[in-house]
Amino acid sequence: MLTTRRGFLQQMTWFTAVAATRGVHAGHATAAGAPGPLLDTSALARYVDPLPIPALAKPAGVRPSPVDPALQVPYYRVAMRQFQAKVHRDVAPTAFWGYDGACPGPTFEARAGKPMLVEWVNELPKQHFLPIDHTLHGAEADKPEVRTVVHLHGGRTGPESDGYPEDWFVPGQSASSYYPNQQEAAGLFYHDHAMGITRLNAVAGLAGAYLIRDELEDSVNLPKSAYEIPLVIFDRSFRPDGQIYYPVSGKAGSPWVSEYYGSAILVNGKIFPYLEVEARKYRFRLLNSSNGSFYRLTFSADQTFSSEGLAFHQIGSEQGFLAAPAEMNVLILGPGERADVIVDFSGRAGKELFLRTHVAMMMQFRVSAKKAADSSSLPATLRPVTRIPESAAIVTRELTIADYQNRLGRSNVMLLNGAHWSMPVTEKPVLNSTEIWSFINLTDDSHPIHLHMVRFQILDRRPFDLGVYQLTKKIVFTGPAVELTANELGWKDTVRVDPMTVTRIIVKFEGFAGRYVWHCHMLEHEDNEMMRPFIVSAA
Ligand code: C2O
Ligand code: CU
Repeated sequence: MLTTRRGFLQQMTWFTAVAATRGVHAGHATAAGAPGPLLDTSALARYVDPLPIPALAKPAGVRPSPVDPALQVPYYRVAMRQFQAKVHRDVAPTAFWGYDGACPGPTFEARAGKPMLVEWVNELPKQHFLPIDHTLHGAEADKPEVRTVVHLHGGRTGPESDGYPEDWFVPGQSASSYYPNQQEAAGLFYHDHAMGITRLNAVAGLAGAYLIRDELEDSVNLPKSAYEIPLVIFDRSFRPDGQIYYPVSGKAGSPWVSEYYGSAILVNGKIFPYLEVEARKYRFRLLNSSNGSFYRLTFSADQTFSSEGLAFHQIGSEQGFLAAPAEMNVLILGPGERADVIVDFSGRAGKELFLRTHVAMMMQFRVSAKKAADSSSLPATLRPVTRIPESAAIVTRELTIADYQNRLGRSNVMLLNGAHWSMPVTEKPVLNSTEIWSFINLTDDSHPIHLHMVRFQILDRRPFDLGVYQLTKKIVFTGPAVELTANELGWKDTVRVDPMTVTRIIVKFEGFAGRYVWHCHMLEHEDNEMMRPFIVSAA
């Protein structure tokens, strides 16, 4: 029996749905076996910790390329380890799992067309510290508790190096990935993808940024080095002793919960950090590595939630530059999405600025009173984005996104096109062919849908009548397509599929033949069957 999760909230727009879910953090703590009080992160002193800047990953030498042994390519070795970090001055150290013992992990700097090799080493403990649900597919009790596999999200990577969820390895083992970097400049990210426990490994801290650079980027004179800063955003709840809190369902033997929303939003691993900036332009590489939270991000001049939001420019989306900078004052960023933005502090010398959502403060910028030299520019145009005509598609797939509930109205399982992970592969695009994927969202949540290996463009989002669909399986649109915002007209790899809409993307399956996955990037959904393999066939 198919129903929507919180009943029929037909009028609920995506915006209010997000506002509602963001407001219910504390509700998770009420399950049976409740953990006692959580740390009240909203009461923490604000802006007492400087924003950490993740270290740069450094190669440990060169190795022969696996595709051409005559060629030497940079070799990186990154170990996943448990470590302690201070998320705030007044919070006791927190145990995390991280790449190179950091969360976020080190930032990779890659060059388009210059391949590299990364050996990912699992040096984690043998026991997990978060609640595994052994009833979930791939996380059965006979599987080792601690398993990892690394996916480079947004990478056009061969199937053997892509981090297939079942290609996990255990503490004491490692796996090498070959990244060709045959793609345009973009802000990618790497994170764990182990079957059935991705959400837990992510909450433990396994994520980091990976930037690909190219000549066009060099030529446009954007703010660089100290003026280009990754902002990795994720939310967490903590216990009073500073340890990460992850809720459980209260259902014996099956602790999985349908969403994770933390009480605090961290930026580069800190709660309420501050950053001292000069009165000039900065480039921020934003990445939402949260399990389930969508953010409406605003730069504002004060700490109220009513102010308009200062103008800034988005210059890139997940898969690289927009055709031209998009001026905006609110940026919606879902799990897995990235944005490349330019913020100009030059008119704000001696002032403070804040990055916030519509309900929570995140960080402070302290603008120096001194006049700053700034030779960088905000180009009028970036990289042309040729819109793919719908006529280029040789296949159109209609794919439902649904949440199947038990009689208590609790989520049981979440499926893409009604299929479980282990059912036969149904999406088999041909290499270099173009398809339209039409996502029919039957739930009242937004789901960020991500396809591995490829980049795509959004065609449109259009509201339809869910009641009619449930009775007849026919799509009756209730209005015209919602106009896409300027920052959604570039190359994407993750798309927000809003409730009760049909969201269409157009994809050319360029790159490699082989087996990949597509899934919802709300990691609790992904772990409970909202993930499917797809196979790119060679012709
Ligand atoms: Cu960012 Cu399959 O994931
Ligand atoms: Cu989802």
